[in-house]
Amino acid sequence: MSTSTATAVACPNIAFIKYWGNRDQALRLPENGSISMNLAELETRTRVTFDTTFPLDMFDLNGKRQSGPALDRVIKHLNLLRGLRGISTHAHIFSENNFPTGAGIASSASGFAALTLATVSALGLEISEVDLSRLARRGSGSACRSIPAGFTEWQKGINDLDSFAFSLAAPDYWNLADCIAVIEEEEKKTSSTEGHALASTSPLQAARVADSIRRLEICRNAIQKRDFDALAAIIELDSNMLHAVMMTSRPALYYWEPASLNLIKAVQSWRKTGLGVACTLDAGPNVHVIFEASDTEKITQRIKTFPGVRDVILCHTGDKTHLL
Ligand code: DP6
Repeated sequence: MSTSTATAVACPNIAFIKYWGNRDQALRLPENGSISMNLAELETRTRVTFDTTFPLDMFDLNGKRQSGPALDRVIKHLNLLRGLRGISTHAHIFSENNFPTGAGIASSASGFAALTLATVSALGLEISEVDLSRLARRGSGSACRSIPAGFTEWQKGINDLDSFAFSLAAPDYWNLADCIAVIEEEEKKTSSTEGHALASTSPLQAARVADSIRRLEICRNAIQKRDFDALAAIIELDSNMLHAVMMTSRPALYYWEPASLNLIKAVQSWRKTGLGVACTLDAGPNVHVIFEASDTEKITQRIKTFPGVRDVILCHTGDKTHLL
């Protein structure tokens, strides 16, 4: 018998400039580049054990044995990584999230980032951060952005080799906070993977993609200069462009709930009173409210008591995916 094990921890991330639509679905080569911030305090912790006596792969998520599509997706990723060592030994995977799965708090990002690092390390492979990010991308696109630290950019690249994420700034470069207003905790109805496949059915997607180079540059500069007003304007525009595409796809995807829209409008009105605050939404109804951490008390208090908000989760800029 031969056994090897490794455990990795990864944070999810919130996209400031969003990934939506693939030009190569199988390789997860995106139509546009994206920028995000890793979210400390939230984490996926994944232990991978390879053992020559295991008769099959097993995947436990939050204490529940997985089957069907969730297991198949993990096995597909394991196969990609096992292939790098040329082995077929089965693995047991134990994964825990300390946040609700599937509620627009991209658990696939932290999930596949942690799975990639733990697996590669249990296989005894020495892999650069660039290659880890590329490999994580194959499991879930946004996972490639959770590999490096802090504020990260995923360059769309021209092929599998140069589509990866790198760090734009370290976590302590800018002390931003993301107060996630939880509006629904249930699993979203249309997964991101299904959504990406519908992006091209929207007549607005081509315009969103064509303008992405400009938005990426504005966002990059706003982070470099720690210019909150510029960041606020670009992340809200980008989020609205994403949701405009979603709402005009066939079939139309509506991720916003009435409480989401009410909070989006409230954030706008708070900003008019001089508060530095902005919001962005992924493929779910939860609203990510972004601000400088020095304003935490003022802003989280308002969100906590906002009608329709069930809970709040406060996060700061997070580190890279690492081994335990
Ligand atoms: C709206 O990375 O979850 O959150 O590659 O199919 O796993 P898959 O999709 P995923 O898509 C994320 C979409 C988004 C925007 C973003 O995070 O950039």
